[in-house]
Amino acid sequence: MHCSRSYRIKEFSTNVEGEVNRLRSQVDLFWQKEVEAYRRFGLKDGMRVLECGSGPGHVIENLLTAYPGCRATAIEVDPYLVAILKERLEGRCDISEQSIMDLGFTSGSFDFVITRLVLEHLPDPLGAVREVHRVLKPGGRAVFVDNDFAMHLRTQPEIPELGELYEAYCRLRVDEGGNPLIGRELPPLLRKGGFTDVDLEVVCAHSAVTGDDMFLKSEGVGIPSQLVKDGYLPSGLLDRLAVKWHRVLRHEHHSIFRQLFVSGGEKRASGSRGIPKLHVAPGTPRAVERGGHGDGCVTGLGPGQVLAAQPHDRLDLLTSYVVARVADALGISPESLEGGMRINDLGFDSLMAVEVMDEVESQWGVSLSLMDFFEGQSLDDIAATLYGQLFEEAPKGPAEESQAMSGDATGSDEDVVEWEEGDL
Ligand SMILES: C[S@@+](CC[C@H](N)C(=O)[O-])C[C@H]1O[C@@H](n2cnc3c(N)ncnc32)[C@H](O)[C@@H]1O
Repeated sequence: MHCSRSYRIKEFSTNVEGEVNRLRSQVDLFWQKEVEAYRRFGLKDGMRVLECGSGPGHVIENLLTAYPGCRATAIEVDPYLVAILKERLEGRCDISEQSIMDLGFTSGSFDFVITRLVLEHLPDPLGAVREVHRVLKPGGRAVFVDNDFAMHLRTQPEIPELGELYEAYCRLRVDEGGNPLIGRELPPLLRKGGFTDVDLEVVCAHSAVTGDDMFLKSEGVGIPSQLVKDGYLPSGLLDRLAVKWHRVLRHEHHSIFRQLFVSGGEKRASGSRGIPKLHVAPGTPRAVERGGHGDGCVTGLGPGQVLAAQPHDRLDLLTSYVVARVADALGISPESLEGGMRINDLGFDSLMAVEVMDEVESQWGVSLSLMDFFEGQSLDDIAATLYGQLFEEAPKGPAEESQAMSGDATGSDEDVVEWEEGDL
């Protein structure tokens, strides 16, 4: 299976078997704290769990020991690692050769998804986050674990050469399309991918707690040697590093410290109301669209369409407008948003709000304020506010709606609306 990525085990290190063992030590180094973080992010026994990019399977193996009631699935893109996975874990979990970019599962298949040290190797991490979001059940949760090599392993006494090593490592990963500094970017990435209730934890390991051995094994010489082989590092640096490591380990009060970034989020359960889809013309410049249609906007929906709709459809249309408009501002697909999502959880900022307010004012002739967005409102709430502004009343529930339609109530939407049909 061809897939663009910056981790190919046979090219990542000069010693493939050594790299499999290094991955094992790197799991052991953090596992106790990491599994606690997974639990805080929502992992429970009995869940249907997917791990994307399992490598040789050390995470999923530990997970099945800690949570024996979970039904686990492991996917991995590299056939060499899939073979190791099958050799080690066949019968204990479902295993398949797949890319995280295009998962072969129907939407809503899993309760919890773990993606560990994979996003940093992908040219399109947002695409991967969206794909994980898709295969989660509504209400399901995912964790993404990555490094940030500007905040990586440090020692006391310091080894300045580690800076050179990680800089060379970063250059190679970037040249191959990865992002070795992705740790700091995880929360906004998850929000863009459609997750809500996003948070970030930093899990750290210290030699005084774990001992030196796991650190040394999870560093290894395979990757630095490969950097020398690929021309990213002068070979003399390896010798200097070895000497400095030796000094650190002989130092009576030495410390070795490293951290991992764990970000998690939830796929918001669907709201009670379905949102009709609006067509957003791809690549159409907003100004052209605005100029082209009298009441046009980024969604192509204007007051004329809302007024022409049946009264009971108007709120849904306005919700669709808000969803499409917010998605456009965030640069994400409207399908990844739901009406119940809170604007504060989406990474939508005040500049974006001002842009929407301007559009609403110029195209719809009504004013929203910043307070209409940022006091914990959901997209549904904003649509209801817009409805209130346009029709000078709160949206009707279905019961009131049918009462109004059957003539039991006095007045209707048409009585209060300010626009005359002929004006639009
Ligand atoms: C650094 S290893 C981490 C392995 C394992 N998750 C762990 O924490 O030990 C990165 C893994 O991601 C896999 N990978 C890279 N691109 C992938 C993709 N597009 N889909 C699935 N797995 C991918 C690699 O083959 C490799 O096994």
